[in-house]
Amino acid sequence: METIAERCKILSPCTIWLTGLSGAGKTTIAEALKKRIDEMTGSTNGTFVLDGDVVRQGLNKDLGFSAEDRTENIRRICEVSKLFALSGKICISSFISPYEKDRAFGKEIHEKEGLNFFEGYISASLEVCEGRDIKGLYKKAREGIIPNFTGVSDPYEVPENPDINIPTGDKTIQECVQQVIEFLANKGVLS
Ligand code: PPS
Ligand code: MG
Repeated sequence: METIAERCKILSPCTIWLTGLSGAGKTTIAEALKKRIDEMTGSTNGTFVLDGDVVRQGLNKDLGFSAEDRTENIRRICEVSKLFALSGKICISSFISPYEKDRAFGKEIHEKEGLNFFEGYISASLEVCEGRDIKGLYKKAREGIIPNFTGVSDPYEVPENPDINIPTGDKTIQECVQQVIEFLANKGVLS
């Protein structure tokens, strides 16, 4: 039977930033990753998930989807993610975050505090995401019911040099989670 001493530890708090199109699998990977790390450490206290749909109902409910509002959305979340990491947690943040400069801002403010900010690109193509259309948002975007929809009528700047590329169209959720766990172990985040 596993003992506490054999359990994995969080050696280096950080933010894992998951960026990608709507429907790419950001929320799914974030939740599955949290579950997996929590099982490995034997505690639910070492991780925290921040997700676009949730944060937009509360903290950022004053913001829409213009370029300015998306930038302000990501700025606030980067700051909150940093605070969670400073508190000793692994913060898993899943946001479309379409602009490279906004993601770079997150990395910059974390590194100023000596914290890692890992950019994870959830790299499902537009065709795959639109084919899934789990929430029916792409259909509404194509019909013009939802304006400024990422990938359809609004830009998404593909990460040029992500720390980790997570191709949800080619792998199972558990394979993606395993890929991230191995990445974190290699970076010395998890023992
Ligand atoms: S952003 O671009 O980072 O500020 O977006 P984010 O905070 O992650 O919010 C994305 C979720 O908002 C819903 N939604 C839209 N997404 C993109 N474009 C438009 N116009 C839009 N309107 C609503 C959608 O449910 C997104 O969730 P995910 O999980 O990405 O599908
Ligand atoms: Mg989501």
